[in-house]
Order: sequence, then C-alpha cells, then structure tokens
Amino acid sequence: MRIYLIGMMGSGKSTLGKELAKALNYTFIDMDHYIEEKCCKFIDEIFRDYGEAWFRAFETNTLKEFKKMDNVVIATGGGVIKNKKHKEIMDGKCIYLSVPLDVLEARLEGDETRPLLKTKTVKEILEERIPLYEYFADIKVENVNMESAIKEIMEALK
Ligand code: S3P
Repeated sequence: MRIYLIGMMGSGKSTLGKELAKALNYTFIDMDHYIEEKCCKFIDEIFRDYGEAWFRAFETNTLKEFKKMDNVVIATGGGVIKNKKHKEIMDGKCIYLSVPLDVLEARLEGDETRPLLKTKTVKEILEERIPLYEYFADIKVENVNMESAIKEIMEALK
C-alpha cells in the first residue's frame, strides 16, 4: 500500500512520516527532498528560478513515479492538493494531518525556507486549503501530539 501524508507546511508530515514508516516497516519518502535531489536545487531555489507552476508540474510527474512503489509512506508537499487531478494519481490511503492555526503559526514563525510564506500568511493559506485537504483525505487525524496521532492512524489502517 502507498500512504500519502497531506497537510499544511508545519503539520509534521515528515517527522510523523518517518515514525509511521518505521512502525509499519515501510519505506519513507519525503517528496520535497526527492524533488530537491532530482533538480539539484532547494525548493525555494526551484520557486525562484522556475516559478510555482513549474514546481507543480514537477510534483505531478513525481506522483506518477511514486505509483511504481509499494509499501511506502510519502510525506507530500503541503500544496499537492492544489491540483484536484492529483487525487486520482494518489491511489492509496491519504492521511490528512490537521493542526490548529495557532500551532502552525508558532511552528512556522521565522521560517525562511517556504517560498509561499513570503507572500501569504499561514492563516490565508490554511483557509483556502482546508476544503481541499478534506476532499483528498481518506483519514483525518489531528497532529498536535505525534504519538497519539500515530496510534490513531495505526488503528484506522487496521
Ligand atoms: C508548499 C509546501 C512545501 C513545499 C513548497 C510548497 C505548499 O512543503 O512543497 O514550499 O504549497 O504548501 P512542506 O509542506 O513540506 O513544507
């Protein structure tokens, strides 16, 4: 099975994803890192040099590549849900890590690596995306405490 973790920047997809993969004996993939390695650039450099539309198209191709893999936990980039067509490509279990706004704001304060935070607030991004995360989600879990979120996910996957 392929498990896709979706959720906002700062929702803990990578941190929780590594632990979840260990618990399931699956391979962990961080989609942003995967893209960075393929492009030999950091995400903020990709946005700066090629623009967001280019990055989003690269995300689509990367998701298609992931379809060849099995028994993986994939921490996606927070904006993967911006393209509704991705729902078809992401055939597996989509787990939405939901985190309250104030917690996200605290986690992302002073973050220089996320290009979208240069032009929008966390609140603006979260508000426009909540319906999309809900649309993609097979399972929704609040991730404020990682251990309990993992327990909840393991139960839901049984
Ligand atoms: C983005 C989130 C980032 C990264 C890029 C765009 C977004 O990933 O893909 O900066 O649109 O929310 P993380 O969710 O891992 O920070």
